[in-house]
Amino acid sequence: MECVAWFPERKGFLSQQKLAGMNPVMLDSERVCRHTAMSAAGPPARGIPKQETIMNTPGIIIRDEKESDASIITGITVAAFADMEISDHTEQFVITALRSAGALSMSLVAEVDGRVVGHIAFSPVEISDGTRDWYGLGPVSVRPEYQRRGIGKALIREGLARLKSMGARGCCLVGHADYYPRFGFENVPGMVVAGVPAEAFFALSFDGNMPRGDVRFHEAFLAKGERKP
Ligand SMILES: CC(C)(COP(=O)(O)OP(=O)(O)OC[C@H]1O[C@@H](n2cnc3c(N)ncnc32)[C@H](O)[C@@H]1OP(=O)(O)O)[C@@H](O)C(=O)NCCC(=O)NCCS
Repeated sequence: MECVAWFPERKGFLSQQKLAGMNPVMLDSERVCRHTAMSAAGPPARGIPKQETIMNTPGIIIRDEKESDASIITGITVAAFADMEISDHTEQFVITALRSAGALSMSLVAEVDGRVVGHIAFSPVEISDGTRDWYGLGPVSVRPEYQRRGIGKALIREGLARLKSMGARGCCLVGHADYYPRFGFENVPGMVVAGVPAEAFFALSFDGNMPRGDVRFHEAFLAKGERKP
């Protein structure tokens, strides 16, 4: 499902001070994390330290996207949404537009046996009550032949953990009612996205405070094709 809300370009995600002081992802029973050298992994995406996380699910590595992953991410996204009737098949353009706008706050890929097979994007959202540091989750995609092996779950859990460790205050998305509650997402009365049914909008507060009001995703969610140079 596609988010169709619009908001004027906003470049301030988390403050650079917060990002600079960001701790490595906490170790827990499901995740073993190590930082990769920035020089080896290329420049950090929007100043967020590069990390690679080996999930407990055997063989899955979650890491930040590299420049060379961009076309692979497009391919995964196209394939994942290809048979989905409710999709207008523009999700790959959304990711590219977010990247171009500097609004791809976090872009993680899942590797299995050295092959990139899954992807998740996070971007800043604007909330009309003034709450800051909330992020939109999506699109999230797993190659059809790799679905239902826990890769989507690993991407979402890792993405949420990293958002929290960055100091984000919450995350929201438009998506399937059967899938996202398992991660703690809930429908929130009074928190709405224009044009999106209430039962398809989900929010997860990290700090115990649930915002109220209109949520606007980045205007990149309106992207319908690649921009010609
Ligand atoms: C949604 C998606 C990312 C999940 O990734 P995945 O690796 O297949 O998911 P996991 O293996 O971690 O989880 C599988 C579970 O999710 C459920 N699930 C997967 N896709 C689902 C969907 N579209 N709706 C509801 N449940 C879904 C499965 O039924 C399974 O449930 P179970 O654990 O109770 O058996 C992947 O199926 C995908 O790319 N789908 C097409 C694109 C898409 O719908 N993206 C999300 C848009 S909101």
